[in-house]
Parts: sequence; structure tokens; C-alpha cells
Amino acid sequence: MNRETLIRYIRGRKAFYSDPTQLLHAVTPALARFAQHHDLDTAILPTISKGLYVRQRLTAPDEDFQLIAAFWGPQSAAPIHDHDEVTGAVTALQGTVSETKFALKGSEKNIVFLEASETETLGIGQVSPIYPGEALQRHDMRNNSETWAVTLHLYLTPLVQFRIYVPNEEGGYSSLPRTLWFD
Ligand SMILES: [Fe+2]
Repeated sequence: MNRETLIRYIRGRKAFYSDPTQLLHAVTPALARFAQHHDLDTAILPTISKGLYVRQRLTAPDEDFQLIAAFWGPQSAAPIHDHDEVTGAVTALQGTVSETKFALKGSEKNIVFLEASETETLGIGQVSPIYPGEALQRHDMRNNSETWAVTLHLYLTPLVQFRIYVPNEEGGYSSLPRTLWFD
């Protein structure tokens, strides 16, 4: 499947489903198929990034959803972050990445307390959903290997602002606002 076909398919499904969870279920098989047979040239791996990994938007800026490719160098990682209550999904296009979800257990002033779930390994075409709600939308991602990995991220509404979570000495996390950037 090529990128334009996937984008057209998601656009068509988005016009049909108003419920984001139903929409995500409807497009998940297409994400998995694209991951297994895609047309992105991941052999040309970008090495310069504004952040800890390379993020490229595959959809046009005025599209009302976002499809994003992220390129992960050996042993690179994203800190714990949320998705501003946006529904979406992530899968691997090349290599494998580890994902750990974190549930909100409490908060005190500007400090939050998080509980990690089991770490999952995402292989090519394995789709991990991102849902709104305190248990399901914070995660971190890591490429634990010595080779590059590439992941595909779908946000069903554009993600603009989100928060990263930085551990403090008391076992909690400070949340820091971030604006989604692209390389
Ligand atoms: Fe994420």
C-alpha cells in the first residue's frame, strides 16, 4: 500500500465514523497492512533532528488528522508523554521498539504519580492504540537495538500541545508542556 492510498482510506473512514474509537478500529487493519508493505524510503535515514528522534509528517498540514513517521537511532528513546486526549495508534515500520504505558495514580500540585504497565515490544504491523483517559494515553518509547527503527503514528485529530513527564527525587513526575514539532 502506498502512503496516499492509506491517507485517502483514513480520510474516507473519518467521514463515515464520528466515534474516534470506532474509527480507530476501522483503520487499524489498514495501518497493519501499510506497515507490512509500505512505500516509504526508510533506507534514507535522517540523522539530524530537532529532538531525540526524527519526526516527519506524512499528511499535509491542513489535513484534519496526522500520519507521522518517526526514525529512531540505536538506543534512542522518547520520554514519558501524553497525547492531549487525542485518539491514535502507533506501529513499527522497520525494526522493533519498546512501549510502556503509564497510568495516572494521583497528583499533588504540579507533581503527578504514574504507574508503569508491562513493557510491550512493537514489531512491524503490530498496532498499539492510544486512547483518551488517565490509564491509556501516557507512554514512553525506546529503540533498544543497535540498528535504526522506524515507527508510524496516527493521530485522529491533530496533536498540537502535549506534556512530557520528568521524574523527580520523590518518585513523582513533573509535567512540562511541549508543542509537537516536525523535522
Ligand atoms: Fe506517543
